[in-house]
Amino acid sequence: MEQYWSGSAINKNKGMVENLQHCGIIKSRKVVEVMENIDRGLFVPNGVQPYIDSPFAIGYNATISAPHMHAACLQLLENHLEPGMHALDVGSGTGYLTACFALMVGPNGRTVGVEHIPELVSFSIKNIEKSDAAPLLKDGSLSVHDGDGRQGWPEFAPYDAIHVGAAAPEIPQPLIDQLKPGGRMVIPVGNTFQDLKVVDKNSDGSISIRTETSVRYVPLTSKEAQLKGE
Ligand SMILES: C[S@@+](CC[C@H](N)C(=O)[O-])C[C@H]1O[C@@H](n2cnc3c(N)ncnc32)[C@H](O)[C@@H]1O
Repeated sequence: MEQYWSGSAINKNKGMVENLQHCGIIKSRKVVEVMENIDRGLFVPNGVQPYIDSPFAIGYNATISAPHMHAACLQLLENHLEPGMHALDVGSGTGYLTACFALMVGPNGRTVGVEHIPELVSFSIKNIEKSDAAPLLKDGSLSVHDGDGRQGWPEFAPYDAIHVGAAAPEIPQPLIDQLKPGGRMVIPVGNTFQDLKVVDKNSDGSISIRTETSVRYVPLTSKEAQLKGE
């Protein structure tokens, strides 16, 4: 997906959300509400201009994804993020989308972030603590774990929504297994050329996969390969 705006004229979270609506990326009131309530500015390292439509480095060869990618994924998953549902965010990085998911599924739902860089797990927890999702972290309906996201997080499976924030060479089987019938996974797949795939598990357990758009993400890989920049 392209960059929809650049420059620093947009310097407030509300302005960023309005721009995403004008560009046609955000289409629903539900996504407007969650992106207004979770301020992206709380999830970026000091010195980063949070409201520009661009990914930014967060250390450890990782990035916070661009606002238009966060919005597009929320839009694709919104019907699977109803109150009481279970959501898994693999490669949760800054915790931005994890916090959005938690606000959408609420205290009777379950939101799990899995990230394999422990320093980013701590960073994301601190970020979430500053946000409107803090009470959900406190009550335990939202948690972020240090782990290899390619294995999913079986403890709270099956999931209505799975988001993968890094590009996999192929769709990891444990993630397909942990998707609930009727559930949806959004995952970038590929190496140099990547497609954002939408994976729906039908009620009979069969899988339908379609391509949403071309994307560019950091790889879903081992911690060692990521830190070496491979
Ligand atoms: C594009 S970044 C962050 C995306 C996140 N949605 C955000 O905007 O903050 C992708 C993240 O995936 C993590 N990652 C890569 N491979 C992983 C793996 N096997 N298990 C868990 N996390 C992984 C990286 O450390 C990185 O934080």
